Amino acid sequence: MKGLILSGGRGTRLRPLTYTSAKQLVPVANKPVLFYGIEALAAAGIRDIGIVVGDTQAEIRAAVRDGAAWNVDVTYIEQDAPRGLAHAVLISQSFIGDDPFIVYLGDNLLAKGIVPFVERFVDAQPAAQILLAHVSDPERFGVAELTEDNRVKKLVEKPAEPKSDLALVGVYMFQPEVFQAVRKISPSPRNELEITDAIQQLIDDGLTVTPYIVDGWWKDTGKLEDILEANRLILETMERRVDGEVDSDSQIDGNVVVEPGASIKQSKVRGPAIIGANARITSADIGPFTSIMNNVRVHDSAIEHSIVLEGSDLSGLQSRMTDSLIGKNVKILRDPGTPSTYRFMLGDNSEVGIP
Ligand code: TTP
Repeated sequence: MKGLILSGGRGTRLRPLTYTSAKQLVPVANKPVLFYGIEALAAAGIRDIGIVVGDTQAEIRAAVRDGAAWNVDVTYIEQDAPRGLAHAVLISQSFIGDDPFIVYLGDNLLAKGIVPFVERFVDAQPAAQILLAHVSDPERFGVAELTEDNRVKKLVEKPAEPKSDLALVGVYMFQPEVFQAVRKISPSPRNELEITDAIQQLIDDGLTVTPYIVDGWWKDTGKLEDILEANRLILETMERRVDGEVDSDSQIDGNVVVEPGASIKQSKVRGPAIIGANARITSADIGPFTSIMNNVRVHDSAIEHSIVLEGSDLSGLQSRMTDSLIGKNVKILRDPGTPSTYRFMLGDNSEVGIP
């Protein structure tokens, strides 16, 4: 069994962060989303992992390297452009060879991993097995219609009138015959080879595609609200650990992780929250569901339900900052000279909410 993690793509829904960085490396509870996927595959006993990469490959290679940190062997597969999930599968054929394999979208997170999902596939050996989740808004997803004997009958992409509430989750298992199915399909109106079309092709060819309903939560972290939600869900599972320095004027409440080298002075941190290595928190109020990455400085500001990436500097924010994702090395500083003006330098597609 091999693993294939798709980590190319455009990431348009996460601009401007994705102009400069891979969305799969956005940290959730201070760990890149992609690492959770690698861990899930490793926990399911998969040692040979291909990672499909695109424009952001340098950053992904630098973060994952050869996979030794997870005791897996990583092979990088370059996709020339984001031509669709099924295209990413197709170009991986020589890596996969004759093995059954699992495809895992590099921006997806599953609370309980994939061990039982993989076991079921190995036992039943269908042509494909798909992971499904009950959702309240199926019209936003690929939706599966099942037969009475619990096979997948049909997959419909974002149906106006969904036939079920079962959305397709970003983890799929295939026998190598899926490559023939991908060769038979044509690009969709958005000019991508769609994985749903490839799976539908397997069904149309009379092959068995079985469903597996996900146990626990699942998040596709392709957009801001979902990253914040995933961050909240992961932080809720973390236990208190204070390895950094906290002065006697500070208060740390609940499940808070303070990494080594971080320092917290005259501040309040209410968990669940994580403060990264060498972060400096002074005269600040860090509220629940907040992840502060390494080397961030927060001074005289209140933050909650947010993620602040490496090296950023926030100081003197007058209002509480909430529901925010701040990129790397961003500066938000009070400007003492001009009290009633805003001064910005923001990348394309940035979003700022003013009270
Ligand atoms: P998506 O989130 O469906 O696509 P995207 O990354 O282009 O994002 P957006 O819709 O915001 O523009 O992709 C799911 C995962 O698959 C993600 O980790 C990127 C990866 N991917 C590839 O590796 N190759 C591809 O051709 C595509 C479309 C996605």
